[in-house]
Amino acid sequence: MERKKVTLPDLYRKKAQHLPITMLTTYDFPSAQALDRAGIDVAFVGDSYGMVVLGYPSTVPVTMEEMLIACRAVARGAQYALLVGDMPFMSYQAGVNDAVRNAGRFLKEANMEAVKLEGGRTIAPVARAINAAGISVMGHIGLTPQNVTQLGGWRTQGTTAASARALLDDALALEDAGCFAIVLEKVPDRVAQLVTERVGIPVIGIGAGLHTDGQVLVLHDLLGYFDKFLPKFAKRYAHLHATIGEAVARFKSEVEARTFPGPEHSFSIDDEEWTALLQAIQDAKPARTFAAHDDSVDATRAY
Ligand code: KIV
Repeated sequence: MERKKVTLPDLYRKKAQHLPITMLTTYDFPSAQALDRAGIDVAFVGDSYGMVVLGYPSTVPVTMEEMLIACRAVARGAQYALLVGDMPFMSYQAGVNDAVRNAGRFLKEANMEAVKLEGGRTIAPVARAINAAGISVMGHIGLTPQNVTQLGGWRTQGTTAASARALLDDALALEDAGCFAIVLEKVPDRVAQLVTERVGIPVIGIGAGLHTDGQVLVLHDLLGYFDKFLPKFAKRYAHLHATIGEAVARFKSEVEARTFPGPEHSFSIDDEEWTALLQAIQDAKPARTFAAHDDSVDATRAY
């Protein structure tokens, strides 16, 4: 079947037809290719990059420049998926002009097709301005890792009638601001289903149960590549951290046992050329040694 580029209308069609939307994070060229080959709808360069690739303790430190490098690599690897870049902390909170300019950089400098930002009603005016500048925006509500301190930790959101109502109001405000989709993170499944049914745009869940319009996971959780912790809502489909550890240990033991490289990894010189070389060095002057004038030089080394 001929593949075609995923567009925003494709996502709306999937919501209307109750066909699940698939979205995964990706931060480099080979993983973007893998997502594309598997037919994932949305290739998302999340600011989780800061944690699972760069090793920061949270998503807060990751910078615009770091995000743009990852986005460029992903754009080179994925031809079909919709490309969404995550706006890092403080790239859109300090003012609307700043936010629009930074959103524009994702498209102009890193070939993304849309951006994502965190927050509900308070951030809706920013989402509206970015959208008005011609840049498609995905919202993100529920557990929003950029302000995890204010939320009191990595807690489930919308667990009371009042906070669930506030989540619904946030979702409606983002829809009204022109967002084309919303990520809904770590909320009770019934609340997520209610939000999904009440808004007209796709809701992509992570830790939000089965009844959202789609699902997103952090690729390094899915692959078992990041082993510091695994959120309850994530599922490991592979154990790459262990696989990599085993491969690296095998390399080390084969090098130490001199069984790698084998003949199949080595190159040869013709016998005639080899004989000529041996003859030439035999006829040449003996190898020189140099006397060291300072102690840091190995005085016995021949060259
Ligand atoms: O940065 C990220 O990976 C995210 C996902 C959890 C949606 O925002």
